[in-house]
Amino acid sequence: MKTTHRIALIPGDGIGAEVLPAARQVLDSVGARHGIGLEYEEFDWSCERYLREGAMMPPDGLERLRTHDAVLLGAVGYPGVPDHVSLWGLLIPIRRTFRQYVNLRPIRVFEGVPSPLRAALPGDVDFVVVRENVEGEYSEVGGRANRGFADELAVQESLFTRAGVTRVVDYAFDLAERRSGRLTSATKSNGIVHTMPFWDEIVAERAARHPGVVWDQEHIDALAAKFVLDPGRFDVVVASNLFGDILSDLAAAVAGSIGIAPSANLNPKRDYPSMFEPVHGSAPDIAGRGIANPIGAIWSAALMLDHLGHPEASADITRALTDALATGKALTPDLGGTASTGVFTEHLLSLI
Ligand code: NAI
Ligand code: MG
Repeated sequence: MKTTHRIALIPGDGIGAEVLPAARQVLDSVGARHGIGLEYEEFDWSCERYLREGAMMPPDGLERLRTHDAVLLGAVGYPGVPDHVSLWGLLIPIRRTFRQYVNLRPIRVFEGVPSPLRAALPGDVDFVVVRENVEGEYSEVGGRANRGFADELAVQESLFTRAGVTRVVDYAFDLAERRSGRLTSATKSNGIVHTMPFWDEIVAERAARHPGVVWDQEHIDALAAKFVLDPGRFDVVVASNLFGDILSDLAAAVAGSIGIAPSANLNPKRDYPSMFEPVHGSAPDIAGRGIANPIGAIWSAALMLDHLGHPEASADITRALTDALATGKALTPDLGGTASTGVFTEHLLSLI
């Protein structure tokens, strides 16, 4: 029986619209090989739409996405539109309404993509950052008072719930069990004396239910240093929203290129669609030239196939990506090559 998945495509702005067609070509190719049907609906939601119509997406946008099995997003961001507009007008509503409480960021140092770090060798560095994606430090609770006076103040509350911490920590322990059985929890319970000890307690409680996983916890400052000094020691790293955000960008830099990093915003319970997107933004400096590296988007599409229940098809893509990078043929300029987005994509398709 042929399964058909309904995919919502949101190319967004700038190079988002250049890398998403590449990802779709690759999806169609592996889909055909593995008997996976994919139906797409494309949405023009973006900062460019915001400038035209005053909103990133229409009022019923979330309802329209709701009926899809997954969302594949390029990137949003346009000169002149403040970043909080694109974030709070599109990405955060999708993540929160669809309870995408896990942000998953795999990090790998590939042969052919030198890391800026001496210690980060191909094969050695291969880990996943699991970031809490809907609560924590990025909350809407707080406010400003006495605006314009000398005693002006701002308050921003962090929200950590037992249910919210438990589910993301459980996800991370399950993932560690399926990988090499090692987990590191990012904390700062020496300085942040309420929420972080609470986080640590829940991690310890959940660890007791996963006796097969060897785990430790590190303060976020020391952990940042270890990402640089000894990135090969990590397997699964679980962190709150803010810590995970910073760690995952640091980790993408360790891997050598922003253009290859993928991410998944997961609703592991599957009662809402999950969203897959490259880590990079809309890159206005190179947009329109057809030279964007599509690997971040293509690897994100591979994560999507895995989430939709097609691990073999997903592995076909990551294997072809690994081969393409190792041979160094037809790479885009950000990786030292001269190929266009289209030429690289054709080369990749020939390896699948
Ligand atoms: P960026 O990721 O767009 O670009 C940073 C640098 O990396 C640029 O020099 C760019 O040319 C290069 N780069 C990024 N992706 C590349 C790719 N696939 N191939 C080749 N080179 C690539 O980050 P930046 O410049 O800070 O932000 C630009 C816009 O994107 C802003 O409006 C920002 O808000 C938005 N943005 C959106 C994100 C999203 O949609 N999730 C994430 C990050 C930024
Ligand atoms: Mg970030």
